[in-house]
Amino acid sequence: MVNCMVKPKIYVTRDLPERGLKVIKQYFDAEVWPEYAPPPKQVIIEKAKNVDALATLLSDKIDAEVFNAAPKLRIVSQLAVGFDNIDIPEATKRGIYVTNTPEVLTDTTADFAWALLMAVARRVVEADKYVRNGQWKVGWHPNMMTGRDVFGTTIGIVGAGRIGYAMAKRAVGFDMKILFYDVIPRPEIEKLGAKKVDLDTLLKESDFVTVHVPLMKETHHLINEQRLRLMKKTAYIVNNSRGPVMDEKALYKALKEGWIAGAGLDVFEQEPTPIDNPLVKLDNIVIAPHISSASLETRAKMSEMVSGNLVNFFQGKQPPNLVNPDVMKIRPLSKLF
Ligand code: GLV
Repeated sequence: MVNCMVKPKIYVTRDLPERGLKVIKQYFDAEVWPEYAPPPKQVIIEKAKNVDALATLLSDKIDAEVFNAAPKLRIVSQLAVGFDNIDIPEATKRGIYVTNTPEVLTDTTADFAWALLMAVARRVVEADKYVRNGQWKVGWHPNMMTGRDVFGTTIGIVGAGRIGYAMAKRAVGFDMKILFYDVIPRPEIEKLGAKKVDLDTLLKESDFVTVHVPLMKETHHLINEQRLRLMKKTAYIVNNSRGPVMDEKALYKALKEGWIAGAGLDVFEQEPTPIDNPLVKLDNIVIAPHISSASLETRAKMSEMVSGNLVNFFQGKQPPNLVNPDVMKIRPLSKLF
């Protein structure tokens, strides 16, 4: 570490996959929150008082209150691509660097959105329960568990960034017509034959809508009642971006009253979603507990990136996945160490 006889101090808010944690423990004076559930905010504030770095997860709220308590804090290294849990302007203002873990999870996350899409359209979870519950009394029936075809239909990708683009690549293999909507799409998506449309057109024309936008002021409840009403009655919607991008109450009405055919959700407005969330009671929805990037390989790579960002930073280099580059104007690396 730069001119450093003593190891920098870090608080790690959860037991990270070994690959990154081992490096963190080697280079830092590290304390790790030992429990499975997240540390209470008060604990983070208390621990932040004394540290040079934090390693965080998306369930930790890192805001002005934390920063105000942390005079020595120089970097927050988050294990996730999304960082809506961190108040970036407040961090930047104070010269605190923030990093994330993009790219390594793109394909893993797209695979899982695809799994939700297939599962809801072809009723995989319902069928599994049907067999386990002893309801399978007749060997084969032409009307048993009929779902909808995926191949050859139209997919509408809301948010054509890295993950949206990976969804489009998969849709090509399913011979789908691909529509997308984004303010700043990845240019490569058009090379796949995908067509840029406005959001309302996408919702009206797609058989499968899949949502891949970051959570920001502009995307909060982007999928609301009015927009769900534009969708076909036979269409499905998948969301594995962030829960608040969708108005859950409106989605419940849409599923219950049959404005749309079904949904696949990996994210919720509140996580964990309460068991009395009425969505959980519906049959035409497949639900998962925010696990889209949860493959062993990807989680190991994400934790490696968390440590890589930290080590680079404390070696005086720009961390590879800096999300607030403006911070370098407020507190250049040369003034940090
Ligand atoms: C997971 O949701 C992530 O943002 O990485």
